[in-house]
Amino acid sequence: MKISFAAQRPEGSYALAMPLWSEDVLMDRLGSLDETARTLAARSAEAQRFERDAAAVAETFISEGDRVRRLLLVGLGGRRDDEALFEKVGGALAAKLLTSGEMRLVVDLTGLSLRGADAARIGFGAAARSWRYDIYRTKLSRKAKPTLEEVVIVGAGDATEVEWARRSALLEGISLTRELVTEPANIIYPVSFVERCRAAMEGLGVDFEVLDENAMRQLGMGALLGVAQGSEQPPRLLAMRWNGAGDTSKPIVLVGKGITFDTGGISIKPAAGMEAMKWDMGGAGAVAGAMRAIAGRKAKANVVGICVLAENMPDGKAQRPGDVVTSMSGQTIEVINTDAEGRLVLCDAMTWAQRQYRPDYLVDLATLTGAMIISLGHEYAGIFSNDDGLAERLTRAGLATGDKVWRMPLGEVYDKLMDSPIADIKNSGPREAGSITAATFLQRFVEEGVKWAHLDIAGMVWSDKPGTLWDKGATGYGVALLDRFIADNFES
Ligand code: BES
Ligand code: MN
Ligand code: ZN
Repeated sequence: MKISFAAQRPEGSYALAMPLWSEDVLMDRLGSLDETARTLAARSAEAQRFERDAAAVAETFISEGDRVRRLLLVGLGGRRDDEALFEKVGGALAAKLLTSGEMRLVVDLTGLSLRGADAARIGFGAAARSWRYDIYRTKLSRKAKPTLEEVVIVGAGDATEVEWARRSALLEGISLTRELVTEPANIIYPVSFVERCRAAMEGLGVDFEVLDENAMRQLGMGALLGVAQGSEQPPRLLAMRWNGAGDTSKPIVLVGKGITFDTGGISIKPAAGMEAMKWDMGGAGAVAGAMRAIAGRKAKANVVGICVLAENMPDGKAQRPGDVVTSMSGQTIEVINTDAEGRLVLCDAMTWAQRQYRPDYLVDLATLTGAMIISLGHEYAGIFSNDDGLAERLTRAGLATGDKVWRMPLGEVYDKLMDSPIADIKNSGPREAGSITAATFLQRFVEEGVKWAHLDIAGMVWSDKPGTLWDKGATGYGVALLDRFIADNFES
């Protein structure tokens, strides 16, 4: 989607959108149209019970000279404190027009005295909502094909282009995440995941370091290798480093679970719905997208994004329930359930990250447990943290971006449930509190003094229905959250 900003409405054909606050006088807002068009718009809005609720849209066709123009009245509601309002408005307009036959949309903000940031948000919402991945659809009917190519936002302030540059970097990041999440597991596996990221970040100044199986073996990453050993696809650990702070301060470290397909391994999952496990790399996808966004806007912070990539398959070489593996930390793990593989790959990635970068802050994102979806559904990711300040900062970034998180507990009583009779810890506890015990497992690998947060994003990566900023499918959850968390807390 091409997004641009202009002082005046362009020439030629386009659909025209006029945003309206609750209290605006309609006839004034439509002052640039002729009398007939204004009356038609007013009457048809009423007939559609258009009450200017935030992001509600009413549609009319008016005649302008010898052309018929589609006119969309779009509500702004009455609240001026809703940070997400303009993104929703852009998203609603794009959803309405995406396959409508219209190729161009003009959003006319003249007279609303909005800030440049608000105009940029409209563009962001429209572009984010329009994202689709049609490369495997060779038989899309003419009517199902997207037509909308361009959004021109008219009459916003001067700061718009600067604001847009930031949001367009964020969009690039979200698009990368959605692409990685959407691609099937025969296309995106550990090696190709790394290559896709490399291509997406070429020339941005992000340093790539990749560990292969040999390196992992030398480092003693027995937990990660145990998960990978049942697959023909070799695992990878990808570390992407962005040094934007201009000094040698310690980086913020982000770690993402990248199981490119999760069959469950020998503890195999039921067939129904297993195809969803192609997006079990959503944590790694979010980390990659966040690095794309952060580097794309040249963030003044030092950030390392780590994707721990493996495929969890059943095979003659696969690990068995009851196997004991030794993690890089030295702690031994009894593998009760080979389907609790996320924590096994993450623990070694966390140990490596902490030894390598000695960070003060470590944030991991993972589609870790089905239990998380039972707890919070698809509204919030669960956040588990050993530091109230860090949890608070992530919560605030979530509220500001719409990538919401809800705090969940940790504690010794939960932690004890993960003791193993044969090893230091087991990878699966009782059925109850499954997301919490998964988090306490990870916590055993957090080193002294490190402020750590774990985000269980199992309910957020994929959506079965369209939302305000996405169509059904990959949401891109976490990219805006991490980008904002860095921007608000680590850039001066
Ligand atoms: N990737 C799954 C968790 C998941 C399930 C994410 C559904 C999204 C949707 C994870 O590896 C898993 O299988 N977890 C098990 C843990 C259990 C064996 C302790 C689960 O949640 O059942
Ligand atoms: Mn699993
Ligand atoms: Zn998994």
